Order: sequence, then structure tokens, then C-alpha cells
Amino acid sequence: MCVVTFDWEKNDAIEKFKTFNKKKSISWAVMEVTEACNFSCKWCYANAGNNQGNGKYLKLEKAKILIKTLSDIGVKQITFSGGEPTLYPHLTDLVKYAKDYGLIIHMNTNGYYLNKSRAKELYKSGLTQIQTNIDSLDKNKHDKVRGKKGSFERTVKALYNAMEVGLTCVSQTVLTKENEKEILDIFKFARSIGIQRCRVWDMAPSDGIAKDNFYLKPTDYISTLKKLYEFAVSTGATNIESADPLFPGELKTELKISGGFCVAMAGLVLIISTHGDVYFCCAKRDPMYNIFDNLETGSIDEFHKMKLKEHYNKFYKYPSNCIGCHSFKKCRGGCVIRREYSEENKDYWCNKFNIGIKPLIIPA
Ligand SMILES: C[S@@+](CC[C@H](N)C(=O)[O-])C[C@H]1O[C@@H](n2cnc3c(N)ncnc32)[C@H](O)[C@@H]1O
Repeated sequence: MCVVTFDWEKNDAIEKFKTFNKKKSISWAVMEVTEACNFSCKWCYANAGNNQGNGKYLKLEKAKILIKTLSDIGVKQITFSGGEPTLYPHLTDLVKYAKDYGLIIHMNTNGYYLNKSRAKELYKSGLTQIQTNIDSLDKNKHDKVRGKKGSFERTVKALYNAMEVGLTCVSQTVLTKENEKEILDIFKFARSIGIQRCRVWDMAPSDGIAKDNFYLKPTDYISTLKKLYEFAVSTGATNIESADPLFPGELKTELKISGGFCVAMAGLVLIISTHGDVYFCCAKRDPMYNIFDNLETGSIDEFHKMKLKEHYNKFYKYPSNCIGCHSFKKCRGGCVIRREYSEENKDYWCNKFNIGIKPLIIPA
């Protein structure tokens, strides 16, 4: 979940960080409500494009149990995701239900089916924010990476519709080598149409389609983040929300930063599939446990922490080549998914970031 979000206006996403600071455990849940998707994105960690025919989705009764459980343990925010949540038959009902439990509700959507009346219905039901990708300002490039003709126009229309009814909008971009040079222009465009929050995702080497297309990964993610940071400062941004352990890292920032660590590693977020499988990260599709098999376990918070630890110890080697590095206290070895994907068990973005700060390997 290596995402960095730049904010120009106040929004309710900050609440989950405030809760996290107090609670130091699960404060946010990403609920994948359906596997169905009408897009076929080249970088999709969920391989949703491959599941179009199956249409598997979370049963309403199970979804309600989940929401009640999440609310009981003090979760502050739910983000509906998928697949494509607007294809989920119970979306409006579930938004209302979550709202009744006092939860902040956001949604990742490709926007294709978000016409004005749908946007209004969802907003009135309790949704407060949508996140929608703009992957290029060249519509052919955007449509190609999203695997859907006409998607650029529908995306922009969806963002207008959402803003018009009162939803906060996040324009998000999965950074690739094909759009990294364009990202400043994407941010400028988004801001010019009134988008309140702009986000980048570092393309994660998730299983399946994302790994097959990993040649698309950006060439210089950290420099891109620095450029976006400068743009944010010079245009009056108010806050940066970072779930990336390498950002801001050593960069001295004038702007307020929420996070700056991996929210999954910190045990802040529950990422739940349509089957109730809980993943370590959206981009790591090995279930740690199934939440429906463990609802009677007592404290889900404690259980999750235990499973997280077990999972970490089983799958991720301790980043021994970070021992003694000045930055380790901040980055904790960086992103485990990026580390796992590199041959040296080292976050592959760290060298570029820590220019001049060489890890101090303690001699044997
Ligand atoms: C899997 S989609 C599901 C929700 C919805 N269908 C949509 O298009 O937003 C959620 C978002 O995760 C991000 N994403 C997906 N795969 C990714 C990857 N391999 N690396 C980084 N971000 C990714 C994209 O921003 C995508 O829009």
C-alpha cells in the first residue's frame, strides 16, 4: 500500500490517523466487496480484470456482520474497493449501514458508472470520498493501461459528478515509467478542475498481472515524490498522508505529514477480500487468516497483531543489510513487498533515496 496523498483541503481521512495515534491498532479497513470489474488494468494487484465473468461478491449479511465487528473494535474508516465496487449490488445499502455505525466511508472506483444521480445517491447515503485514477492526460494512454476504451472521459466526468454532489475527490495515479514524467501535469490538471486530493501509488509487484507487467514500474519514484512535494508546497497544500516507509524519510518537510510508515506493518489497516480473507497488504494476496473464521476469537486487534507477526516472520527476512543504517529507525527497512521482490532483500528504492547515507554494515 505504498501510497502518498497530497491534500489541499481539510478532509475526513485524517481521522483514521488520529485514531491510530490514540489506539495504536486497527483503525481503518479496506473492504473488497466484489471481484467483478469492467476494466482490465495492466497493474492490477487484485487481478480483477481476470475475474470479470465470475462476479463473486461479499454477501450482504456477511458484509453487515463485518461492519458491526469493525465498528465494535473502534475502526474509524472503511474504504470500499474491489474489483469495481459500483458493480456490487448492495453498495448503497452497505454505505447506509456503515454510516449508521458512524463510520467514515470512502470508495476506490474507476468511475465508469458514476453518473450524477448515482454519485448523489451514494453521497446522501453516507459516502464522503471517492478515489479515481487518472493515469495519463493522453486519453489513449490512459485507456490502454486501464484496459477500457473511453475510460478517460468517463473518469473525468465521474470526478466532476462527484465534486458537484459534494464528495471529496482523490485523483490517483499508479506511477509507471510511461506516466512518471507526466505526473506533475496530471496533478496540475486535477487541481485545475477542483480536485481536493492528489495521490500516487508506487506500482507494486503484486502476483499475477501486476508482476507480468512489472516492466512498467517507474524508473525514479523517489525523485518523482520530491517533485510532487515541491509542487504541493508551492501551491499551498495543507497536508501529506504517506503510507510509504521511505517518504518523507530523510527529507526535511515544511508540510505536515500524516504517517510516513507502512500502515499494514503498523497493524493499522485490515484489508479484507470478498471471501473474508485478510491480507497483509493489497498487493500481497496470501491470506493471513479469514476474518469470518475468527470472529469469536476475542480481540480481533490482538489476534491480528499475532497473525501479522507470524506472517512477517514466515515470509519476510529481517533486513539485515540495513543494520546500522541511519535511516532504519524511520523506514524499518522500507516496504516489505519491494524488499521481497529485490534480490538483496532491500527496498529497491532505498539507494536512490538515501544518497550520501550509506548503510553502516557492522563487520562480522
Ligand atoms: C484494485 S483497484 C479497485 C477499485 C476500482 N476498481 C478502481 O479502479 O479504483 C484499487 C486501486 O489500487 C491501485 N492499484 C491497483 N494495483 C496496483 C499496483 N499493482 N500497484 C499500485 N497500485 C495499484 C489503483 O489506483 C487502483 O485504482
